[in-house]
Formats: sequence, C-alpha cells, structure tokens
Amino acid sequence: MNDEERIVTTRATEADHLETSIRPRFLNRYIGQEQLKHNLEIAIQAARSRGEPLDHVLFHGFPGLGKTTLAYIIANEMQANIRVTSGPVIEKSGDLAAILTSLQAGDVLFIDEIHRLNHVVEEILYPAMEDFQLDLVIGQGPGARSVKMDLPPFTLVGATTRTGLLTPPLRDRFGVVLRLDFYKVEELVSIVRRAAEVFQIEIDEGGAREIASRSRGTPRIANRLLKRVRDFAEVKAKGKISGKVADQALDLLAVDKLGLDEMDRRILLTIIDKFQGGPLGIETMATAVCEEKSTLEDVYEPFLIQIGFLSRTPRGRVATRAAYEHFGRTFTPTQAALTGDDPIGKLF
Ligand code: ADE
Repeated sequence: MNDEERIVTTRATEADHLETSIRPRFLNRYIGQEQLKHNLEIAIQAARSRGEPLDHVLFHGFPGLGKTTLAYIIANEMQANIRVTSGPVIEKSGDLAAILTSLQAGDVLFIDEIHRLNHVVEEILYPAMEDFQLDLVIGQGPGARSVKMDLPPFTLVGATTRTGLLTPPLRDRFGVVLRLDFYKVEELVSIVRRAAEVFQIEIDEGGAREIASRSRGTPRIANRLLKRVRDFAEVKAKGKISGKVADQALDLLAVDKLGLDEMDRRILLTIIDKFQGGPLGIETMATAVCEEKSTLEDVYEPFLIQIGFLSRTPRGRVATRAAYEHFGRTFTPTQAALTGDDPIGKLF
C-alpha cells in the first residue's frame, strides 16, 4: 500500500457551508448526542479563542453512530486540514512517522479503529501526542540510532468501537474522551428527513418514522434503509415514501418492526431453538451462525442487549423472556432461572 492509499487529506472549503452532503459538516447541524455535542462545542470554542489546536479527542461507540462524521466536523469547525487513516493500515513505525512528519500546524489526524494499531506503532504515538515529538529508532543492533524530531502541534482524533480494547497509556493521552450512544427514534426521524432532503426524496412524517423506528438506533442503518425504501417507492409508489410504503418495503427487506434483520433472528433463534436458550459461549455462537466473533460482539450484540433480548452472563449468552415472546416461543421456568428472570430464585 502506498501513502496515497494509506492517508486521505481534505480541507474545509466554501462548499462545505452548503448542506449538500449526507454527513452534516458543522456541529449545529448534527442531530442527537446532545451532551457530547455540548462538551465538544466548549472544547472547540476554547481552543479557537486561545488560537491553539484542539486537545486530542477519542470517540468511542458502536459502528455507524457518527464517529467519523464528528472527526470531519472537528476539522471544519477548527478550519483545519484532516488526514484520515485507520489502525490496521498503519503497519510499521515508518508508516506512522511518514504521516506525522507531513502534518502541518493545526492539522487533524483521524485514526479510525485506533484499537487495532500494533503496539510498536502505538509507542511512536505517545511522545507525538504528549510533546509533539517524534522518537524513532533507526536500524538494529549496535548500529541503531535514535532520531528525535519536533512535530507541528496537531490534534489526534481517534475512534474505537470499544474503549476496553485500548491500552491505558494510549487512552490516558486523550484530553477529551466522548462516548456515542444509540439514537432515539425522534432523532432518527430528523436524520432521515434531512437525508431525504439531501437526496431529494419525497417522504412524509409517517414514512420517516417507519424507517427511523426500524433502524436499530443507528444513523448509518437509517440512511441505508432510506435508500432501499426509495428504490421500492420509485418502482411501486411513484417515488413517494409514506408510512405504508416504507412498511411494505421494509417487510420485503426482512427488517422487522424492531429493526431486527436476518442475522439478528438467526442469532436469537439459534440460542433459543438449538441451545435451549443458552448459556452459549461466543465462539460456539460464531460457529453456529457462521459469523466473525468480533462482528457479533461489535455489530449485533450491542443492539440485542440494548433492547433486552440478549443477556451476557458469566457462563455465556442467554436469550431473555422478551426474545422468547417476540418469536412466539414458550419461556419455561428453567429458562427463567437461567436468565435471572425468576422472581422466586431471586429471593434467595
Ligand atoms: N447523518 C448521519 N448522522 C447524522 C446526525 N447525527 N445528524 C445529522 N445527520 C446525520
């Protein structure tokens, strides 16, 4: 991979003031995450008024909640360049050194999936973040030399799906640590309506609400479903998305009323029907549903846990009473005891 592929640079331009992009470019256009926005706004305003780069920022939250969008917003609000890369593509210390030495004062360096940086590369980041110093060892054995270089002040924005996977020394070097939560249906209604405006899609309140309520609290899913529903509406409903049209389109896509898709159903029904409700270890589950363990942990489980369909116990994953009821299965006293959903058992 060459440097062109490893990093992408963009700069805020005049056109960014127009709402022509699916991603909002300024904080006041960003919907939801109110507390996060408030904290970020204060940090940005303070840095700007001091004429300094923003402190390093870490975003953590499940996939599709807006971490990348916020990194771009930071660059725009700070009127800075943004360099975009990700943990797994920075393979060697030299790769990171090349990126760091090409930064200009005030630049934002966005590292997505920062928990996937390898440890040798990660150690280069510590002095770079703390003192804007590059500390490199060149060569090996007796001929090895240590090279120190000053770096321009910059802002590192890191994104991770799970802070628990970050090493403490790296986590501690971020001055601003912000967590993204799932979005409320009302917020997703506004996000869908805004995206529909950008794509010039005709949609009414009922249509936006139907898509929002089936998007698992996640803007990326809402925007994806909006595009699929648009296809359906163009073919079957003269391009107009109403509640009824969205409902039919989403049924056809096998996205149910709660937003569960084929894989969610496969996960839950595997636990309920094949493993008597659990407990089931993550490795067994990954094999049983033919999916990567990390995808199950990062993409599917968080939402199933959030809606109370899945529970993680010390002995493994169990399906809850709500999941049994959703699929019309009988929840037995044995399962109740297993999931802790057992009023008598709980007394003792
Ligand atoms: N598009 C995706 N996420 C968004 C958000 N949080 N606000 C506005 N538009 C979005």
